[in-house]
Amino acid sequence: MIRIVSAPKGYSKCLDMSSDKFIDQVLKNWRNRLQATYSSGSLVEAYCHQVNTCIQIALLCVEEDSQKRPNIGKIVEKLNEIDSAIGELPQKVSGMAMHNNKNIGMRKESEDIKGQHQNINLMTGPSCSELEAVDARETSSNAVEELIVVRTEEKWKIIAFLLLESKSKKIVILPIYGIGGIGKTTFERLIYNDPKFKYYSRVWIHVSQIFDLNKIYESIILKLSEKESRANERQMINSCLLKLLSGKKILIVLDDLWEDGQFHLQELKDMLYHADSNIIILVTTRSQRVAGIICTNLQPYKILPLTNDMCWDIIKQRSAFEARDDKKQLTDIGREIAQKCGGVALAAQSLGFTLRSMNFDQWMKVKDSDTWNEPVSNDASLPNYVLASLKLSCSHMGSSLKKCFTYCAIFPKGNKIAKDDVIYQWISSDFIKPTKILSDMQLDVEKSR
Ligand SMILES: Nc1ncnc2c1ncn2[C@@H]1O[C@H](COP(=O)(O)OP(=O)(O)O)[C@@H](O)[C@H]1O
Ligand SMILES: [Mg+2]
Repeated sequence: MIRIVSAPKGYSKCLDMSSDKFIDQVLKNWRNRLQATYSSGSLVEAYCHQVNTCIQIALLCVEEDSQKRPNIGKIVEKLNEIDSAIGELPQKVSGMAMHNNKNIGMRKESEDIKGQHQNINLMTGPSCSELEAVDARETSSNAVEELIVVRTEEKWKIIAFLLLESKSKKIVILPIYGIGGIGKTTFERLIYNDPKFKYYSRVWIHVSQIFDLNKIYESIILKLSEKESRANERQMINSCLLKLLSGKKILIVLDDLWEDGQFHLQELKDMLYHADSNIIILVTTRSQRVAGIICTNLQPYKILPLTNDMCWDIIKQRSAFEARDDKKQLTDIGREIAQKCGGVALAAQSLGFTLRSMNFDQWMKVKDSDTWNEPVSNDASLPNYVLASLKLSCSHMGSSLKKCFTYCAIFPKGNKIAKDDVIYQWISSDFIKPTKILSDMQLDVEKSR
């Protein structure tokens, strides 16, 4: 925590500081950061005052004597005071009303504070759960969708099959298996978001290597009832699930399942079966064995590798190929690189990003690299060409980017990463420098001058 608030160089200094001095140090750091972001002195002062007030409120909230702690009404009152003080500021500066934008800076500020707060959480304990119930990918999918090379035929085949099967079966479990990076999650997301399932209640669960039945149940309860589950005994959870599942059409995605214990998987299936509802469960897994175990009445589906043309499409998208002047010369080389991806979307994607900033000679080097023939992988579920493409992408990263990328390894797989928070963490770790950019609010002030 000290490291985050005071940046790496301040670390040793902070260890012996009194709490007052430490708070001063925090305020100083905030001031520096705000000065790097805002050009207006009065705005910086107002935000510094806001940071100070927030710190004071936070300290009062942890007073030993609970009587001295402020109640929520007082806290909101204080926050409103500083909120409106900042909201009025641009009008004083520019003499113009900016109703729509007056809170943008404020919002950014509160996000900053939230970011700082989350930084602290991240560093102090393993609060990030391995199992992420939130369907973050689903909600963010529209932005990504246009970059997806759609497996149209495969998608329609699976959707038609699921709908047909669910007419005669109360529970349909279809596992989709294939090697890491081939595009299982992406494919599943396309199915999950398809309008054909718009009348289904939908639950997306990222399971990962740690299989925790309780968390799976809690996620389903949370999504279907929009309430946290208070039940802690299996029997209570069971009756709660029974009620929620009753009489509904439900699509559940269990993404990235590794568990192969018959007993656990059977328990999950029993818990989700409901004579009175239609449940479709889509599972993705790397393992054919896991797919076989979770499957009840259907054959698991082995996802097809992408065609070379599809890989080439992904490379073109990610490398901004169409905007290049030298695209004619690069086409054949690009197609050869696409072939080396072996139909794996992840390989095509990472190479595409790498090729984006490269010239003709560098494209040639990637194509002819020895890395393609090095035995990089001993893992059958991640073949050589996947790791070779990742290794090539990694080796071409600049040193800052490499550090930032490596830093991301601290997040558990499937964890939702808040972009702004990570950027702050990179800055506080000295991997990158903050840029001096104007907030939207200031840009409006500038424009109105
Ligand atoms: N059809 C596709 N078109 C474009 N990009 C894709 C496609 N399928 C997967 N990707 C990209 O490849 C990467 C790996 O895909 P993912 O679905 O996570 O693979 P898996 O779940 O099999 O490990 C992701 O970053 C994803 O955006
Ligand atoms: Mg996946």
